[in-house]
Amino acid sequence: METGTPDFVPAVVPARPGPGPTPRLADGLAYGGDYNPEQFPRDVWDEDVRLMREAGVNLVTLGVFAWGTVETADGERDWTWMDEAVDLLERNGIGIDLATPTAAPPQWLLTAHPEIAPVLADGYREPAGGRNAWCPASLLYRRHALRQVESLAERYGRHPSVRLWHVGNELGGGNARCHCERSAAAFREWLARRHGSLEAVNAAWGTEQWGHRYGRWEEVMPPLGRHGAPNPALFLDYERYSSDALLSHYLAEKEVIERHSDVPVTTNLMVGAGAQVVDYASWAPHTAVAANDHYTSVDDPLREQDLAFSGDRMRGMAADRRPWLLMESSTGGPSWQRRNRAKDPGEILRHSLGHVARGADGVMFFQWRASTSGAEQFHSAMLPHTGTRSRVWKEVVELGARLKSLAEIRGTRVEAAKAAIVVDDPAGWALRHGLKPHRDLSYGRELRAWHRALWDRQVLCDVVPPDRDLDGYDLVIVPNLLVVDRAAADRLSSVPERGGTLLVTYLSGICEADSKVITGGFPGAFRDVLGAWSDEFYPLQEGEAVELDDGTAVTDWTERVHLDGAEAVVRYASSSLADGPAVTRRAVGGGAAWYVSAPLAAESADRIAARLIADAGLERAAEAEPGLEAVRRTGPGRSYLFLLNHDDTDRTVAAEGHDLLSGDRVGPETTVPAGGVRVLREPVRQPGHHAPDHIEDRP
Ligand code: GLA
Repeated sequence: METGTPDFVPAVVPARPGPGPTPRLADGLAYGGDYNPEQFPRDVWDEDVRLMREAGVNLVTLGVFAWGTVETADGERDWTWMDEAVDLLERNGIGIDLATPTAAPPQWLLTAHPEIAPVLADGYREPAGGRNAWCPASLLYRRHALRQVESLAERYGRHPSVRLWHVGNELGGGNARCHCERSAAAFREWLARRHGSLEAVNAAWGTEQWGHRYGRWEEVMPPLGRHGAPNPALFLDYERYSSDALLSHYLAEKEVIERHSDVPVTTNLMVGAGAQVVDYASWAPHTAVAANDHYTSVDDPLREQDLAFSGDRMRGMAADRRPWLLMESSTGGPSWQRRNRAKDPGEILRHSLGHVARGADGVMFFQWRASTSGAEQFHSAMLPHTGTRSRVWKEVVELGARLKSLAEIRGTRVEAAKAAIVVDDPAGWALRHGLKPHRDLSYGRELRAWHRALWDRQVLCDVVPPDRDLDGYDLVIVPNLLVVDRAAADRLSSVPERGGTLLVTYLSGICEADSKVITGGFPGAFRDVLGAWSDEFYPLQEGEAVELDDGTAVTDWTERVHLDGAEAVVRYASSSLADGPAVTRRAVGGGAAWYVSAPLAAESADRIAARLIADAGLERAAEAEPGLEAVRRTGPGRSYLFLLNHDDTDRTVAAEGHDLLSGDRVGPETTVPAGGVRVLREPVRQPGHHAPDHIEDRP
């Protein structure tokens, strides 16, 4: 049984490192996917590299689940296959994103030490068999993992083909919360560092309620069981601890790698709408290039907007809008959705370039060759089971050629957005835990709703954490930011004073960072700037709707709002709230502060968004109906307009330039075919229009 003090857990995330230069992963945009040659006989490998070259692949993720195939028994390593794969890739000029294999501990380790597996809230210890089946507080796991990382880094850390390090895989996917005794001890240590003393924990969590005061540290446990009424502050701190515990694992691997290698280090995040498994905004600054795994969902009618949201959030968490890397995506159905449908013709290109439009400097897939066996045998791949006569393969080859024609875009940055949506994982976690007035609200829904209203109008926004400097934004939208610290609330509240527009939605600014309700009228943190407050919540039952006087109706949430300096823009028109304000606006100096007290129907949000855009003087990248996505990337003296047509009819917009994809010169209008994409190198607009950007490089 393992013992030891989990003294590795950082109290809070260490100071953000400076951005550093952007790594150069390939000559142009990076292109490739996860490559698992160990799953196939050796003669297949030659075909692999031949086809990779045919498709223009220049970067592959190698070894991501290859712990057990290298360290075959405790301390016994056989590198033969990996040496051969590395050589083969080098001979063929294909760069390597070398993964540490720590997501999948070998069977011998799991069998000898089943106690490294994480424990669920109900006390059930996950048996071996999946991935990420390890407890972040297990020192034994960590020792084994770092030992394997060290031998990998010693062996290949200076290999010329290794362009990037990929730590583990989707850290937190499966093991983000562990409830074992070891984790409990680590959590207590984390709490002691965050709060200073047990007394301070009691005060922050309000443990006098139900007489739950802690007298000794040993009494503090992770949120266990299914009793349904946990202290929300305990929950929130446990989620924060869990994020930091995994981050400390990432940092430990990174430190070992950096002892043997100068190659930049990253890990693949899973960034979407809603609260993530860990607080990625605190992780991204520790990566040389932020990397994202994004999969579209067939059952999402606006999946391209979800993709855009993810890209805007990646850019929002990477310092200075620097380029990021799409580490995983799919050429068709993944295998973990309920119905895993293939992509429609053209979607591979359009979705991939959607990521590039929003700042990705590379497009990678899970995975290169489809697995014939194992859990993921029906997952799509760049080279599907059907092989080179498949449509997917043809589109993969076409994508490779198109990315090559976009090589000059590498290192440019997405134009500076003037609008921002504030997103915060702890706020999202807080929304779903404890006895809230409405238990089924989804954090992602409100975030997506406001993003969609801007996306439909080709208005770019960054999706940013609340601690970000907001000075460059003329419009700041704050959806469902249930918990907020004082400093962030002050920064947000100062937006209107300097002439900007602030929009705050229901269930924002209700609680302080430690989950304590701010009294005196909701939303306590923002009521002064909003000039409006509410005193009673009326969440709606399933199927219930309340009308508004703009002709729309709302579901799920309403509240009784009082004006205190603001005017009502939209009023409730039914229920006991009828005639009361639903949406308010307060003019503040040159700016304005809006409060939206209910989840608006798209039509209603659209009307408000149009006014916000006009009031804040936001520019549209193109004037088009919804469905035509338009984004610019710029560099010194250069400007590229991405036009993505997600609609099934051709679209014509005012735009001119040289289409890097087709080679056509177009303008003053251009037609983007149904489902098609254009990337125009535009004549550079008048000086000062785009702030010149720097292309940072790392040789
Ligand atoms: C995740 C993992 C990959 C693979 C894909 C399948 O993103 O990182 O290893 O399992 O899912 O979609």
